[in-house]
Amino acid sequence: MSAATTALAALAEAAVAGFGRTFGRPPTSLWSAPGRVNLIGEHTDYNDGFVLPFAIDRHTVMAAAPRGDRRIRVASVFADGPADVVEAAIDDIAPATVDGWSAYPLGVIWAAGRLGADLAAAAGLDLYLVSDIPIGAGLSSSAAIEAVVAIAIDELWGLGFDRSTLARIGRLAENEAVGAPTGIMDQSAVLLGETDSAVLLDCRSLVTQVVPLGLADEQLTIVVTDTRVSHAHATGGYAARRASCEKGAAILGVPSLRDLTVDDLARASAELDDETFRRVRHVVTENDRVLATVERLRDAGPGAIGELLDASHSSMRDDFEISVPELDLAVEVARRVGAVGSRMTGGGFGGASIALIRRSLVEPLRQAQEQAFAASGHRAPEVFEVVPSAGAGRLALPGALPGSLPGEETAR
Ligand code: GLA
Repeated sequence: MSAATTALAALAEAAVAGFGRTFGRPPTSLWSAPGRVNLIGEHTDYNDGFVLPFAIDRHTVMAAAPRGDRRIRVASVFADGPADVVEAAIDDIAPATVDGWSAYPLGVIWAAGRLGADLAAAAGLDLYLVSDIPIGAGLSSSAAIEAVVAIAIDELWGLGFDRSTLARIGRLAENEAVGAPTGIMDQSAVLLGETDSAVLLDCRSLVTQVVPLGLADEQLTIVVTDTRVSHAHATGGYAARRASCEKGAAILGVPSLRDLTVDDLARASAELDDETFRRVRHVVTENDRVLATVERLRDAGPGAIGELLDASHSSMRDDFEISVPELDLAVEVARRVGAVGSRMTGGGFGGASIALIRRSLVEPLRQAQEQAFAASGHRAPEVFEVVPSAGAGRLALPGALPGSLPGEETAR
């Protein structure tokens, strides 16, 4: 068994055991959704642009069983201590009635109804969630909760949505129930990811394309450095960046920044204040970098995309101003150790960086990050490899099928 399969099997066991402890009966189904890393294309999704994320081998796993009373009980151990259990009647779930972490799973049920699901005949559910995706690290722990609930209710309640609609349901929950004005990237990545591949998503048409990464063929891997500087997108800088982009598009007379090319930047610089111009320049050049990355992956392989990753980081640091000293340090250290390319990933203001690097340099990179963070007086980072993995799916219940491995995926 690979390390990733072992970790998923352990989560499956923990979800089943936690479900039994909390609800006093065994679960009848088991579901998983991964976290994601964005290879490139940051803050482009809500500007109708392009993103290139991939699902990773870190997961949220959910055990479930139906109830006869149209109530949802959802439990998790996201905080330390005993499982936190939240209960609500299906008909009462609405953005105004949910808060805290349960806004993610319950928000999805509300959002499914908003996007056309007929919930009148939906059975109640007991749900129990466990996860090994670090929270607040920019690896989409929240989208994983949304996706795992979305695929489960879609199948258990026979809703018949496709994956791209399930992604929209997750985003609606995040926007309205959680109150974070995020785009569609994270939910799409965790629902549509494929092994050894990234997903190119056109955030205007929602058309997706699977882009093979071919990392193993070139002895390359992706290493995440979680700075453990925690971010939250429901408040602060994320919303401010989104507002700047909308302001830039309005002044320049386009529906969204997707409608601008680098040739429009001279006009943009004449018409916009300096700060708005730099926000716009980031988005316009980042869209170009995503498409260039896809082209280079196809024509020359992952060894050829380093300068695009590096340029993306500089643009986020200098133009979009969403990096923090810990992220800049992690990127600098990765380059010093010999990474092909490195950049912060996710919404910014904390979270994680990625480095595309030769496998033989993973341990030297970990040591260099730990030393550099200690020398700068920063909290110790978490440094780990991620493997581009399959998206959300149903798991076999441990022991359910003779001869099957616990945690083995049985359906998509
Ligand atoms: C967060 C959001 C995404 C996206 C990224 C930045 O992860 O959830 O929708 O905007 O930030 O690229």
